[in-house]
Amino acid sequence: MKLWGGRFENDPDAAAQELTRSFLFDRRLYRHDIVGSIAHARMLGQCGIIEKTDSDRIIDGLQSILSDIESGVLPLDGDDEDIHSFVERVLTERIGESGGRLHTARSRNDQVVLDARLYVLEQVSVCSSRVADLQRTLLNHARTNVETILPGFTHLQHAQPVSLAHHLLAYFWMFQRDRERLRETHSRTNVLPLGAAALAGTSFPIDRQMVARELGFAKVSENSMDAVSDRDFVLETLFDLSMVMLHVSRLCEELVLWSATEFGFVEFDDRFSTGSSIMPQKKNPDVAEISRGKVGRVVGDLMTVLTIMKGLPLAYHSDMQEDKEALFDAVDTVLLVLTVLNGALGSLTFQANVMRDASGQNYALATDLADYLVQRGVPFREAHGVVGKAVRMGIASGRDLAEFRLEELRAFHPGIEDDVFALLTVESSVATRRSEGGTSPERVVQQIKKAELALTGIADP
Ligand code: ARG
Repeated sequence: MKLWGGRFENDPDAAAQELTRSFLFDRRLYRHDIVGSIAHARMLGQCGIIEKTDSDRIIDGLQSILSDIESGVLPLDGDDEDIHSFVERVLTERIGESGGRLHTARSRNDQVVLDARLYVLEQVSVCSSRVADLQRTLLNHARTNVETILPGFTHLQHAQPVSLAHHLLAYFWMFQRDRERLRETHSRTNVLPLGAAALAGTSFPIDRQMVARELGFAKVSENSMDAVSDRDFVLETLFDLSMVMLHVSRLCEELVLWSATEFGFVEFDDRFSTGSSIMPQKKNPDVAEISRGKVGRVVGDLMTVLTIMKGLPLAYHSDMQEDKEALFDAVDTVLLVLTVLNGALGSLTFQANVMRDASGQNYALATDLADYLVQRGVPFREAHGVVGKAVRMGIASGRDLAEFRLEELRAFHPGIEDDVFALLTVESSVATRRSEGGTSPERVVQQIKKAELALTGIADP
């Protein structure tokens, strides 16, 4: 059933119909659509815009449609144009003429954006709680790895030793910012657009506050033209999800590197690994690779909607119908990736000995020696030069700084004494990084406490 046949003489072209229909993807909004329509119908009855008996029949009809869809009795198919047409058609088939009164004081333009907002409000909250699950897993590993030491890298070159807990918590804070962003997006999405009608508002005495209350919206939109043409909330959601995926991809990149034999820092559980069709020995980190790759998809979804919205004049345009597949795709992708990654991360084995052995390599304690000299009054720049020369000699003679004899070190600077060797260990290096937010065990333990508070401090929206 078309909602608009009256004006037309000819049937639509089949391919044009295929192009313009959205039912095959927007049918997933059936619940949001029906819940929104129930609130609208109740308001119409309450305000005397339609008879109370019509309103009651519409609400009963919509409730029966909802439960029949949910129990599988009413399949979401047919050649309807979109989910709104589907629901109105079935309603009218079920309750007759009263069904035709539901669309009073409403347009699909405000209806579709209501559905989309309800969907975003719900899914942003689910995504946020899935991000929190990942944070919890990171925190659990952090708790047991405060004293596990691995090389910290800059430019992918050994830089300074760090605590594994510290390294993992860096991701915790990225995901914390993601949840903050999702929360803010949630609050900006929490605005009722219904009542804008096609674009200008309506001549019927509707009560938008009542609908907002019934649907749980924090406020109603201020401008009917903005209400039907705004998709900022979709874009913000897509941006937030892109950031989640960007963080995921960085974490996954490290896991791929760390699981390579050359690093050997971690091993994935068999359940989260795949083999090769030709090389029998292979165990590949596919979960991390594919999760890393999926960021392209979600960023693509963001670009899709940015491009659709650019340059659109007011108010509603069918271009905007194209926002939904991108939105759904991003949400589906993020939820799947987060679920699998959480399992893979939770069952990861860390090779503490390999990490520790690697952490002192390649003169990773050179800064500690320079700092030692600074504590004895040497200007840092001079100390840097002294240690640089020592490193050069170390490279030439194939030895680490701690393998030098005291006299050799003293030849570089007479301020160096016997106590230097106690400092030239990775444990000491990590332990001395006591500045706020640093990697020393006490600071990391403190950080874990703050992370625990932060995790519960933001409730999922
Ligand atoms: N399927 C449309 C969408 O997703 C619903 C609104 C249609 N409104 C219209 N006037 N064609 O945006």
